[in-house]
Amino acid sequence: MRKKVTIVGAGFTGATMAQRLAELDICDVILVDIPEKENPTKGKALDMYEAAPLMGFDSKLIGTSNYQETANSDVVVITAGVPRKPGMTREDLISINTKIVKSVTEQIAKFSPNAVLLIFSNPLDVMVFVAHKVSKFPYERVIGQGGALDSARYRTFVAMELGVSMADVQGLVLGGHTDVAMVPLPRYTSVGGIPLPDLLDAARIEKVVDRARKGGTEIVQLLGEGSAYYAPSAAVLSMVESILLDKKRVIPSSVYLNGQYGIKDLFLGVPVVLGAKGVERIIELKLNKDELAQLHKAAEMVRETVSKVQV
Ligand code: APR
Repeated sequence: MRKKVTIVGAGFTGATMAQRLAELDICDVILVDIPEKENPTKGKALDMYEAAPLMGFDSKLIGTSNYQETANSDVVVITAGVPRKPGMTREDLISINTKIVKSVTEQIAKFSPNAVLLIFSNPLDVMVFVAHKVSKFPYERVIGQGGALDSARYRTFVAMELGVSMADVQGLVLGGHTDVAMVPLPRYTSVGGIPLPDLLDAARIEKVVDRARKGGTEIVQLLGEGSAYYAPSAAVLSMVESILLDKKRVIPSSVYLNGQYGIKDLFLGVPVVLGAKGVERIIELKLNKDELAQLHKAAEMVRETVSKVQV
């Protein structure tokens, strides 16, 4: 039987993700939006499905607002919410997106009690907390997308700065999925196996790190309305693929920490192994004093925001 992935929120990110996922041809895809958008959602799914003979995939695509059609999904991605406008931070979305993520999660938990939940709505580290609280799923099955995208942006800017292939840049960004709480790790970045600090001086590394931190804001400003969705949808795709195919890829994700890195009872971005069970392992890097201090500062910021949420 084919695997089943539900994507809630058929907007820019959800629809782009559905298209990318269908083209991978590893599962059927259910695209869900609110009843007022039932027809456009069906239309998007059908339009994508009609590309199947041309693109050569057999994934079925269905658009709906009826959660019964999402029943027994293996993975559910929640992108439902309101995106940022220029001048807004991700935190400005808290109260409206909390209500949305709460109501969506209730439906998902009812119809797909065994699914792995991937949360995308912002502010990310808070929404993943909300989804966990509402679903009551085990911690390993509630995961937030943040680090996959932040790391991709960081790797892009490193490759651009050095004029080398994207394929050769490895690196990761930990912490919270918001400009001030990101923790990029130049010491753990390599280019074709060569440590980044051997290739770029501190000032150029700082320039790259700064642009990565503000990567989402840069796109929001350029678009004028809405927020980024091409790279974000690719980031979630890498996580969905690793889970569905049990690839066990190492991807920084917002997961529940219970003492790791000296942080307890909080969802925060750290490197994890993603497989069929969801979070299969949290990797604890040997951070130096400064890196650890940055991660703890990020944890404090996320904790402060979470404390304002009423679920
Ligand atoms: N149930 C299902 N879908 C919903 C709900 C709900 N309760 N509320 C809103 N949606 C849908 C909207 O109707 C819309 O189609 O979520 C979709 C969001 O799509 P966009 O507005 O295009 O936003 P997008 O750019 O995809 O971003 C979505 O990701 O980056 C974050 O902060 C951003 O939370 C936002 C989310």
